[in-house]
Amino acid sequence: MKYVIANLKSHKTTSEVNSWLSDCNNIASDSKVIVALAFPYLHLAKSFKLELGAQDASPFPPGSYTGAVNSTQLSDLGVKYCLIGHSERRQYFHETSIEVADKAEELLSADITPIICVSEKELSSQFAALQEETIKKSLFAYEVLTDIGGTETTPISHIVDMIALLKKYTNGNSLGILYGGSVNPANVNSLVGIVDGLLVATASLDPQSFAQVVQGFSPHV
Ligand code: PGA
Repeated sequence: MKYVIANLKSHKTTSEVNSWLSDCNNIASDSKVIVALAFPYLHLAKSFKLELGAQDASPFPPGSYTGAVNSTQLSDLGVKYCLIGHSERRQYFHETSIEVADKAEELLSADITPIICVSEKELSSQFAALQEETIKKSLFAYEVLTDIGGTETTPISHIVDMIALLKKYTNGNSLGILYGGSVNPANVNSLVGIVDGLLVATASLDPQSFAQVVQGFSPHV
């Protein structure tokens, strides 16, 4: 299975998310097309057929954790996938690999697939914190902080090396290894056949450019 994930991050308002969802609802592709929305907009995806993702989850079960959104609540809203450990979460919110591992456990207990974001920096600490069973049931996204929000991906040869390294860390047993960082319609072709999926932010904000990325990665046949 191939995956293309639109990470809308902390962008857009209700009417903009609604219009994005209707524009992207019918993108034809053999990939699973997932949109990761901010918490307040998750409920808007109900009447659309896109797969729904969240951008974060609580490391705790339901209970007295003010401000936390737990996995049961996400599942209640139709969330099937959830990004965790995105480099922006690790950088700006100081998330640790242990917290990310706890989030993954919580998500799996609610039947949500974790999409665990990793970069070179925390590879060994992240995998040391994950159980074998968790790895098997998760997707991984390789990202480089300095390549996020730009126009050029990390050199393809480096991505190839990193995917091979991640396959070692996962014993080739995860649900798939994705790449994220400056993916856009102009460079998507170079990633076909190299990665199991894409994590796209900047180029996903405009529905037309997101559709081009999806179709460039995995045309409907
Ligand atoms: P970008 O971001 O597509 O804007 O480079 C990717 C990401 O942060 O997941």
